[in-house]
Amino acid sequence: MNAVDIITRKRDGLELTEEEIKFFVNGYTKGDIPDYQAAAWCMAVYFQGMTDAEATTLTLTMARSGDTLDLHQIAPFVVDKHSTGGVGDKTTLVVAPLVACHGLPVGKMSGRGLGFSGGTIDKLESIRGFNVSLTTEEFMEMLARHGIVVSGQSADLAPADGKFYALRDVTATVESLPLIAASIMSKKIAAGADAIVLDVKVGRGAFMHTVEDAEALARLMVSIGRGVGRKVAAVLSDMNQPLGQAVGNALEVKEAIETLHGRGPADFRDHCLTIAGKMVELAGKAASLDEARQMMARSLDSGQAWDKFVEWITAQGGDRTQLEQPDLLPAAPLVETVTAPRAGYVALVDAAEVGKTGVDLGAGRRKKGDPIDYGVGIIVHAKVGDRLSQGDPLFTIHASDRQKLSAARQRLLAAVEWSDTPVAAPPHTIKIIE
Ligand code: URA
Repeated sequence: MNAVDIITRKRDGLELTEEEIKFFVNGYTKGDIPDYQAAAWCMAVYFQGMTDAEATTLTLTMARSGDTLDLHQIAPFVVDKHSTGGVGDKTTLVVAPLVACHGLPVGKMSGRGLGFSGGTIDKLESIRGFNVSLTTEEFMEMLARHGIVVSGQSADLAPADGKFYALRDVTATVESLPLIAASIMSKKIAAGADAIVLDVKVGRGAFMHTVEDAEALARLMVSIGRGVGRKVAAVLSDMNQPLGQAVGNALEVKEAIETLHGRGPADFRDHCLTIAGKMVELAGKAASLDEARQMMARSLDSGQAWDKFVEWITAQGGDRTQLEQPDLLPAAPLVETVTAPRAGYVALVDAAEVGKTGVDLGAGRRKKGDPIDYGVGIIVHAKVGDRLSQGDPLFTIHASDRQKLSAARQRLLAAVEWSDTPVAAPPHTIKIIE
């Protein structure tokens, strides 16, 4: 068996055997197969797809590339969530402490930015000192002591996903249903949670553009999770426009802090209540999603979730003063507000264009290992359905240099579509798959 034959068979649309998938994934993880062959293989999978059996083998092989945690010695029931990737998606920063403050342990592995979508790990790293590279022992200890832990892929936990993820990010191979399913579910299986809520995004700023594709992804992930004895539910939500207002690492941390203080944009708060509520409901702590959402709303407004957030971030090494004074988080030197060039109803704020503008400003990577500029990004002031007058604030750009700022201004203005007649605000939650 050799890598070239396996790439060729996938390129030609053949179904790979379990042995071939294991050979390729383990070989790449150990460093025996180089990046260029793994990139060619990912591209072949992108074009040819995988059967459900191949995707399941890929997921389990990636999950078992490192430790697979059994958390039951620490807690009888641990919950987790994962997003398929979107723009302005800082949900974990709010949802993890919101659920954990109810005594329900949250143990989670997250990822870095992927393509134009941001990643929780990059956002968390914008907080000085926050440690995302935990060993298995550290992960377990955090969970036992604080009932909350968020780590990146490491040499111990899903190392195969760590390598494929960084490669896909810069080889235009992110938007592949089996590669996304395997990436997400391998992390979830390795991290050991009993119940998982999948936050599946649909639309321009998501990797799945149609409800049908998003549903197929959700069903595959739910079936892989159930196959290994986990409780799984998927929430499909709209990602044609960014979630909340902030796009960019430190800006998103600030918005999460606002939300944890009972403020924050309405759509983002509502999304957090649904995802957290579903986690609590799956764990059997509420009889219905409505009841769970009400519990979650009370904990946001009472400051209970905020207290848990501070406990979590500081326990993982993060600087408390930056949480209490968010102005001390990384900030860009240039800040400019772009105003509406005309009056009218906002018909579209293209999330993919906003996300790509964020990457252009330095909030994401173009090549493996590129440094991130934590302070840059965009505040999106308008939502679809809003009526604006000419000159109203549309975006605020946070940039590191004038050239990037001016390019961002052009790109963002082109990302907005207008209507002279009223536009209905689109529903945010599309459907829930149990
Ligand atoms: N999140 C992941 O962890 N992996 C993907 O491929 C997409 C989103």
